[in-house]
Amino acid sequence: MVVDLRSDTVTRPTDGMREAMATAVVGDDVFGDDPTVNALEQHVARMFGHEAALFAPSGTMANQIALQLVAPPGGELLAGSDAHVVTYELGAAALLGGISTRTWAATGAALNVDRIAAMIRPSGFPSVPTAAIAVEQTHNLGGGGVIPLATLRDLRAVADAQHLALHCDGARIWHAHIADGVPLASYGALFDTLSVCLSKGLGAPVGSLVVGSRERIARARVIRKRMGGGMRQAGILAAAGRYALDHHVERLAEDHARARRLAEGLAPLGVVDPEKVRTNLVPLDLTKASVDAPELAAEAARRGVMIAAMLPQLARLVVHLDVDDEGIDEAISVLTVLLA
Ligand SMILES: Cc1ncc(COP(=O)(O)O)c(C=O)c1O
Repeated sequence: MVVDLRSDTVTRPTDGMREAMATAVVGDDVFGDDPTVNALEQHVARMFGHEAALFAPSGTMANQIALQLVAPPGGELLAGSDAHVVTYELGAAALLGGISTRTWAATGAALNVDRIAAMIRPSGFPSVPTAAIAVEQTHNLGGGGVIPLATLRDLRAVADAQHLALHCDGARIWHAHIADGVPLASYGALFDTLSVCLSKGLGAPVGSLVVGSRERIARARVIRKRMGGGMRQAGILAAAGRYALDHHVERLAEDHARARRLAEGLAPLGVVDPEKVRTNLVPLDLTKASVDAPELAAEAARRGVMIAAMLPQLARLVVHLDVDDEGIDEAISVLTVLLA
């Protein structure tokens, strides 16, 4: 038995999803001719109460397209130092968008809006003008934490007052929607652009979307092509994405409950506080443990439990569609032996 808890991206398409892919009506999406892609884009735009959306091959590309929409070359993006857009996207904002990035100290999902507001540099001064702010919902390095709706509203008010754009890296925004019961359209109303992902926890093999205004998404189409993200008969992938949205969003509550049970099972080892586990991510703080994260991951893998070493002292366990109760029990027993 192998329990793969490295990421919620390791899921395999279900039989129903494969059937939807096999029977998808397709066309050449670069010509705008793929009805399944077009339908998915309209559907996702509607879910978030926006005018338009664009299908992209990955979350990274969707984020980077969106950042180029909200910040001009030489403009500044503010984000957390633990944000995916600055930590894991390999300098793409600077390299591809010419965007200057300034970060606030890592707080995960616990944003300090006043501190962010104090960082804003308006144009008209001899400094790089701030163009946009990016936040992450749910927060990956922040242990799957959920930014409260009230905090996002405060941040929107700050952005409006300073004429800044707000981007949401919503790779796991579905998880926030399920955990806090906030309608997706309520999140959508607060952001100029969102990137949302179909292959993290929802079980689709490929695909993210950029969501925004009709004008921005028309520009996004050009940027996507420039980045090499124009795909042809992409309806096969869009069909999987639509299937994921129709069948795998509500069930995320099961993943959240299993993640909580996993955290409760590991809590006696002093590496995780179950109260902080709100969604499907379980971070293990190994600062007081006798092993570091790479050692723990290697030893656990030898015993059939795969986990991710995110930082030297931080391991991450992710619950998803392909992990059942038995897998959670197995992970608790293997990690208990290794951390005891
Ligand atoms: C919060 C967040 N944003 C963006 C991405 C990037 O997605 P992709 O791996 O599809 O490029 C990830 C990937 O794990 C993520 O966790």
